[in-house]
Amino acid sequence: MQMSNRISAFQCSPIRRLVPYAREAAEKGIHVIHLNIGQPDIKTPKEALEAIHNYGEDIIEYGRSEGEVELRRGLVKYYKKYGITVDEDDIMITTGGSEAIQFIFMTLCDPYDEFIIPEPYYTNVATFANIAMVTLRPVTSSPDDNFALPSIEEFEKRINKKTMGILLCSPNNPTGHVYTRGELKALLELCKKHDIFLVVDEVYREFCYDGKTFTSILSFPEYSDRIICIDSFSKRFSMCGARVGAIVTHNREVLDSALKLAQARLCPPAVEQVAATAALTAPDEYVENVRAEYEHRRNVLISSMQKIPGVRCSLPKGAFYFVADLPVDDAEKFDIFMLRDFSYQGCTVMFAPADGFYVTPGLGHTEARFAYVLNEKELLMAAKCLEEGLKVYRRDVMGIKE
Ligand SMILES: Cc1ncc(COP(=O)(O)O)c(C=O)c1O
Repeated sequence: MQMSNRISAFQCSPIRRLVPYAREAAEKGIHVIHLNIGQPDIKTPKEALEAIHNYGEDIIEYGRSEGEVELRRGLVKYYKKYGITVDEDDIMITTGGSEAIQFIFMTLCDPYDEFIIPEPYYTNVATFANIAMVTLRPVTSSPDDNFALPSIEEFEKRINKKTMGILLCSPNNPTGHVYTRGELKALLELCKKHDIFLVVDEVYREFCYDGKTFTSILSFPEYSDRIICIDSFSKRFSMCGARVGAIVTHNREVLDSALKLAQARLCPPAVEQVAATAALTAPDEYVENVRAEYEHRRNVLISSMQKIPGVRCSLPKGAFYFVADLPVDDAEKFDIFMLRDFSYQGCTVMFAPADGFYVTPGLGHTEARFAYVLNEKELLMAAKCLEEGLKVYRRDVMGIKE
């Protein structure tokens, strides 16, 4: 049977497409250390788990399409802690941040409209854009300056009649870059000048390191009609499987329009919204401890990887990812080698080849994205596997004598 041309053109997620090789390795008894996916081993707040255990309803009913009012009120209080004033009607609950991004593309863009995005970028955005038939216009950021925001001129050059907005992610997946207040302000001025939206994915808001302060896009009320924030409970409260996220904007027209999509999918998950509401009551130390743990893990993995000959990576300032350039001919080929042909003391490591995080063909070919979501022992073993694997791959596959 013939599948659609549309689906044939979609990519398999570079984060997950090598999973069959990882399964085969596991079947052979090899312990695969998964640094390919942002699935933390951190415990979900007990408040959220207790809420699920105590869910007392007789029927799990459909709820409101825009999300339950208790959860939206909880979020209003949560944002207040960051000095951000929003109303419960400025918030739509979505089935994860993923659905929030899809709703925004569908709401703001007609087919073949354009969004500008710094690359490397969160790769699943490619599929969300494809679903909405939106063209992503990349502005390439560089490892040489830690993937800082490219110049405003580069963004402006890509603006045309079809441009509906700019999509940023801060703290950034995959680069770990955290955009400064000055960078955000400059982009907002540009968006104002050309009357387009600035959408910022802030799902890693709390995960900033080295004392760096985070600036939310919601803290620029003077531009509020063109600002949209994407949010999620997945990483902040280590509840990725709950599928609870949000769109936050003062622009009611955006939310009223997106509501048509929300109504068609009926409602976000009901029990999980109860859990998310409870997660918001967890003491502030929960998120602070998680942040400190990631900062420690970042230091462990980066310092180990920087010692591996030929590996280039710099200290990310936020989220829990970084992009490293590897001394190989092809990062995907090397990843497959690590899973299929290599193990060190019964272990191997899986990462995400970075070419799928670029829109521009040919970029990121020797780069990989690493997620430092596992404990210190696993991270140290992962770095050791990588070091040993690189030696064997370069000698046996690339034919390099060192
Ligand atoms: C930058 C970014 N945005 C959005 C998402 C989607 O998160 P979820 O749909 O689990 O809320 C992720 C998940 O990894 C992400 O890294």
